[in-house]
Amino acid sequence: MDFELTKKQEMFRTLFQEFAEKEVAPKAFEIDENGEFPWDTVKKMGKLGFLGLPFTKEYGGAGADTLTYIMAVEEISRACAATGVILSAHVSLGCHPIYQFGTPQQKEKYLVPMAKGELLGAFGLTEPNAGTDAAGQQTAAVLDGDAYILNGTKIFITNGGCADVYIVFAMTDPAKGLKGISAFIVEKGTPGFTFGPKEHKMGIRASSTTELIFQDCRIPKENLLGKEGDGFKIAMQTLDGGRIGIAAQALGIAQAALDECVRYTKERQQFNKPLSNFQAIQWMIADMATDIDAARFLVYRAAVLKDKKKPFSKEAAMAKLFASEAAMKHTVKAVQIHGGYGYMKEYKVERLMRDAKITEIYEGTSEVQRMVIAGNTLK
Ligand code: CAA
Repeated sequence: MDFELTKKQEMFRTLFQEFAEKEVAPKAFEIDENGEFPWDTVKKMGKLGFLGLPFTKEYGGAGADTLTYIMAVEEISRACAATGVILSAHVSLGCHPIYQFGTPQQKEKYLVPMAKGELLGAFGLTEPNAGTDAAGQQTAAVLDGDAYILNGTKIFITNGGCADVYIVFAMTDPAKGLKGISAFIVEKGTPGFTFGPKEHKMGIRASSTTELIFQDCRIPKENLLGKEGDGFKIAMQTLDGGRIGIAAQALGIAQAALDECVRYTKERQQFNKPLSNFQAIQWMIADMATDIDAARFLVYRAAVLKDKKKPFSKEAAMAKLFASEAAMKHTVKAVQIHGGYGYMKEYKVERLMRDAKITEIYEGTSEVQRMVIAGNTLK
């Protein structure tokens, strides 16, 4: 495996870093405080082509590779993890299933404007009784003439209410169990489709999380994604890719924690010397730097495998597991290193610690990642 980035990838990385520093970081504190969705930034990302990075130009994308897109999520999350997940949920969970499984008409109608940043995407799988057990879908879709009628509720949906296009999973044939699940493309504004209030979260507060409520919602038959019964596989394959995105978000958070600690420990004096001169601190910094490098290798490897069209399910789960647990562990350490200051909202590490937690939960908990890794290792 080649560990060097190409010139083009380096160029993109610089662009993401500059954008994150100039456009994302200055707003991060305020939008976390207010829980305000960063529309401005999302629109700018759309104009710059970030919302369609890994899709071919034919479909309105930037024609970049997965690794480039993953570096965008990493760098943006380093500045603001809420903005990072808006990007990741849109690209990996909203656009990608249409790119991979959509008909030419679905791609033309939905993927092209989504990749151009004109429409925002989201993914509706989780339900009150179907979290880790994603196969236990209770939302029902019944074919009635030229439409499916959807009834049910999705919960904890990232970009909920803000997105224009939703990939929604529902049971079309309960007798077939997980082989009776189908996927649909649902537009915001469809009669019978409403949203719950925005959830108040511990972290990634500027991202929008809502319920999706379907009450006799008629979805045109042509909005079935893939074939009837393909839904579970579409969900699992989409999540394989999505998990690399969340791993990159966790990596960005962990890197930001290290950045803050390096700066702070060189400035902060105690006992007439900077904190960075104390071995107790140096060891924490060394562990942080090592875990972040290890996480980066796992995350980039999963992205490269995806680009090479090789199996990457296990590697994506490993990347997410390791990067999210490293982000959680080291943001806690970062608060510790900052002492009382780290507990104050004015210091970035306080937000990083709250933001890190969700990376161990969404798109499959750490326990789910271990199930996927064990399943692939033992089969
Ligand atoms: N790719 C293709 N097919 C797959 C697959 C994959 N990655 N994983 C499983 N499958 C197939 C299997 O091959 C099997 O098919 P066959 O019967 O034809 O052999 C079928 O799916 C069932 O597989 P399992 O028996 O492994 O399924 P399971 O019911 O035991 O579930 C699970 C396994 C890993 C726990 C799965 O349910 C899972 O991933 N759960 C977590 C769900 C999740 O990640 N939710 C996140 C919601 S989205 C989100 O969080 C978004 C956000 O906010 C940003």
